[in-house]
Amino acid sequence: MQFPIGGKSPPALDTSVKGRSGVTPGPTVKSGRKKRRSYNPGKDPGFFFIESPHPVNEREKYLKLAIKLAKKGLGYTNPNPLVGAVIVKNGNIVGKGYHQGYGLPHAEINALRKAKERAKGATLYLNLEPCCFFGKTPPCTTSIISAGIKEVVTSLKDPNPKVSGRGISQLKKAGIRVEIGILKKEARKLNEAYLKYITTKKPFVTLKAAMSLDGKIATKTGESKWITSKVARNFSHQLRLLYDGILVGIGTVLKDNPYLNYTPTYRGFHSPRGSVSPGLRRGGKRFTKVIVDSSAKIPLDANLLKKSKTCLPDRQVILATTKMASIDKLKKLNEKGIEILILGENRKVDLLRLMEELGKRELANLLIEGGGEINEAALRLRIVDKVCFFVSPKIIGGRYAKTPVEGEGIEHLNEAILLKELTCEPIGEDFLVEGYVYRTD
Ligand SMILES: NC(=O)c1ccc[n+]([C@@H]2O[C@H](COP(=O)([O-])OP(=O)(O)OC[C@H]3O[C@@H](n4cnc5c(N)ncnc54)[C@H](OP(=O)(O)O)[C@@H]3O)[C@@H](O)[C@H]2O)c1
Repeated sequence: MQFPIGGKSPPALDTSVKGRSGVTPGPTVKSGRKKRRSYNPGKDPGFFFIESPHPVNEREKYLKLAIKLAKKGLGYTNPNPLVGAVIVKNGNIVGKGYHQGYGLPHAEINALRKAKERAKGATLYLNLEPCCFFGKTPPCTTSIISAGIKEVVTSLKDPNPKVSGRGISQLKKAGIRVEIGILKKEARKLNEAYLKYITTKKPFVTLKAAMSLDGKIATKTGESKWITSKVARNFSHQLRLLYDGILVGIGTVLKDNPYLNYTPTYRGFHSPRGSVSPGLRRGGKRFTKVIVDSSAKIPLDANLLKKSKTCLPDRQVILATTKMASIDKLKKLNEKGIEILILGENRKVDLLRLMEELGKRELANLLIEGGGEINEAALRLRIVDKVCFFVSPKIIGGRYAKTPVEGEGIEHLNEAILLKELTCEPIGEDFLVEGYVYRTD
């Protein structure tokens, strides 16, 4: 169950390319509404129309299925997008597929392989514009054209500078009818990490914290195990599987000595959003662990520095530090296979540069798991895209008990960070409150 909470949300953040939604003259089907305040007679009425042989519901139905299929790749495709494809001929599905993992065939190719010769004259439904360049795999546009597909219905233009409308142009040049823009919002949400990463080369960042109802992430003595219930903890373990990197501050490392692992096959895992991908449940996902530690205080026997199956073999752990760290300690850490990034002349690690470095290492998304000081810095620096707060029905109290966002704080309410598209859902006996950071930039 998911329901919006709060009052009027700030205007939606447009992270997509500015692709128009299927504008073809000759109105038959009303399909959407442009954001306009009033109707001016004689001017653009604010509606756009799509001429199509198919009813809207049918297009939506198959695109919804494409999105559902795309989700099966969750956690595996980064830094590539999640894509699902459905091929329909004479009202029958003749091929389905999804992008199963980075470097593997794209969704369209998997669907075309299933459809075989039945693809000739069929309609292809896709949640993202097909690629048109040689990467790890050949261009999908070539395969679509040579298979004889007659129409492509897609939700979004791919903002990847190597594609960015060129895929659509190639299809149109080959005489394929293309319609774009249906289920755009859903398609954007599905690929929110990809859309940020491909346009900025920095990871999409989610900040996660578990807190009591009175907003404490630990007691006054720093005890934080466990604020939320087992169900919520397992849910947040599963959440890790969706990310390429997990980041913590040295304060949390010294206090909690975490492993930041996950439970790959937790029995009885219940996700109100449906199950995670079968591959993830089998425990195939690996992620990079990132520690922010200005003076390399981390003990050499910290749990996070131990070899783990849940990390990429070539990128087990990254320690982001500054010139304050002792060379001797950094050498010892390096001998343990830890990648060292010296980012900052000053007392604190330069988190903005850290995001650039993580982007260079193809981390398309990152989960920040606090504590309060790191959370505050990341929010203040506008690094965070999404907030994910687990709230438990407990009251901890205490002026010295840590809160999810520490730091100096702000003086005026108009400096507060605003969230939009807020949702709240029960997870066991706790609640998960999620929202996107509202930006004006
Ligand atoms: N309930 C939850 O969800 C949750 C999650 C995580 C942690 N916790 C709790 O939070 C507490 C720890 O939180 P914390 O705030 O003390 O520690 P923290 O946020 O984990 O780490 C903060 C430390 O990171 C270092 N740092 C380096 N560069 C930084 C930068 N640019 N900005 C900010 N910090 C930077 C600083 O230490 P140096 O200057 O020494 O490098 C700073 O003191 C623990 O009690 C833990 O149990 C709770």
